[in-house]
Amino acid sequence: MQYKSQAVAKPYFIAAIALFTGQILFGLIMGLQYVIGDFLFPAIPFNVARMVHTNLLIVWLLFGFMGAAYYLVPEESETELFSPKLAIITFWVFLAAGAITILGYLFVPYAELARMTGNDLLATMGREFLEQPLPTKLGIVVVALSLLFNIGMTVLKGRKTAISLVLVLGLLGLAVFFLFAFYNPANLVKDKFYWWWVVHLWVEGVWELILGALLAFVLIKVTGVDREVIEKWLYVIITMTLITGIIGTGHHYYWIGAPEYWQWWGSVFSALEPIPFFMMTIFAFNMVNRRRREHPNKAATLWALGTGVMAFIGAGVWGFLHTLAPVNFYTHGTQLTAAHGHMAFYGAYVAVVLTMISYAMPILRGRAANSEKAQVMEMWAFWLMSISMIFITLFLTGAGIVQIWLQRISSAPMSFMAVQDQVSIFYWMREGAGMIFMIGLVVYISSFFVKGNKAVA
Ligand code: HEM
Ligand code: HEM
Ligand SMILES: [Fe+2]
Repeated sequence: MQYKSQAVAKPYFIAAIALFTGQILFGLIMGLQYVIGDFLFPAIPFNVARMVHTNLLIVWLLFGFMGAAYYLVPEESETELFSPKLAIITFWVFLAAGAITILGYLFVPYAELARMTGNDLLATMGREFLEQPLPTKLGIVVVALSLLFNIGMTVLKGRKTAISLVLVLGLLGLAVFFLFAFYNPANLVKDKFYWWWVVHLWVEGVWELILGALLAFVLIKVTGVDREVIEKWLYVIITMTLITGIIGTGHHYYWIGAPEYWQWWGSVFSALEPIPFFMMTIFAFNMVNRRRREHPNKAATLWALGTGVMAFIGAGVWGFLHTLAPVNFYTHGTQLTAAHGHMAFYGAYVAVVLTMISYAMPILRGRAANSEKAQVMEMWAFWLMSISMIFITLFLTGAGIVQIWLQRISSAPMSFMAVQDQVSIFYWMREGAGMIFMIGLVVYISSFFVKGNKAVA
């Protein structure tokens, strides 16, 4: 650790991993409810578990991004963080708000929660991924502003690098587009239209800048390749991201009542979105092949390469599968969508946060890299989680194809629920793969507790 204030990243990373565990637990509960309909009913209904699963995902990824920013920016800027104290206060505020929100979902009926939290003053609740009560949403804005202020001031007083500028731009975009969570027009077409400005413009826009910056940072560290080379790649990747991703939002406008020209704009531009993801993979492998040093942290290098590959498959390939309007006409809102959502979120954002944690956490604990044994465990965790995620994706894709066939294409279409019965074997297999994912996560967490990890400096 070069700067003392980088230490504020540590609680963020720990909270991220703890919430990640909660997310997977609720995934497994829902996976079981898919095949045993009244499992844990009425204690934890499916809709509540779903909200907890997806909200925990978003919140822990935000913890990961924030920890990564607090770690990366001082080092890039070659100066201490503007205010480590503010970063720690922000941490506790966010953790408390997150925990109270999840407990609210679990223990208060949703309509009651809406009443208690001022949803009649400004109605923002009830939309997928944006279910948070108003005070939580405001809390997210405050936390994001505090982060932006803190790292913005740090960048301003120190060295300005391409990596920190791209990261700040990404985080700024994250905060700005979140504001559309507060805009909830009664007109359903407009509602959906702007809802995607958060959901799509996050994951296929500004978050990709964060992804690119974090990946570039870790690659510089573990490969020792010249900054100039890495920065050129980063610029090209983010330019391609913005060119394709912004108008690519149109792939969500096909059937919501937006003008018909979106079928063309959405199809053409989103079909190009895999390009920046493909470039990230080439980038990572290229840099590792040209490495100028053998960094002792092999696990972090594996995560960095894995991020490129898994993001390309999940977002690029599985996204492309259903992105053209004539295809999406049949596949819209089926298990194929869920297959893509899982692999893309895992491959891009889960993986990049774990890459950053893998690189930074040993350093935060006073050593360049973990012991051989701890790294071997961590690499096992990488393979267990990544391969089981590939299987989750394949099983959901299988379910999706059968669903599309029986429900949408067949000359005698079956009803939704009759089709769900037909594909239950896939759901059982998805649950099995999910359990292996959980085992991978337990191995991952255990790798932090391996004994004999001596401090080197
Ligand atoms: C890391 C980046 C990405 C993530 C995390 C992601 C995640 C998701 C998620 C969670 C959904 C479901 C949203 C919902 O209806 O609730 C979705 C839908 C969709 N994604 Fe992505 N995605 C990514 C990149 C891409 C890319 C690059 C493409 C195209 C090449 C794409 C194409 C689509 C399409 C067409 C849908 C709508 C599916 C439908 O009509 O049901 N995605 N994505
Ligand atoms: C890091 C790993 C995971 C990520 C990133 C993730 C992400 C997501 C996302 C983005 C959604 C919303 C999907 C959509 O609307 O299309 C979702 C829903 C869901 N996830 Fe996960 N998930 C993960 C692990 C798991 C695991 C291990 C299981 C269980 C085996 C699971 C089971 C489910 C279920 C059942 C749903 C609800 C699907 C529906 O509404 O029909 N997830 N997850
Ligand atoms: Fe999208």
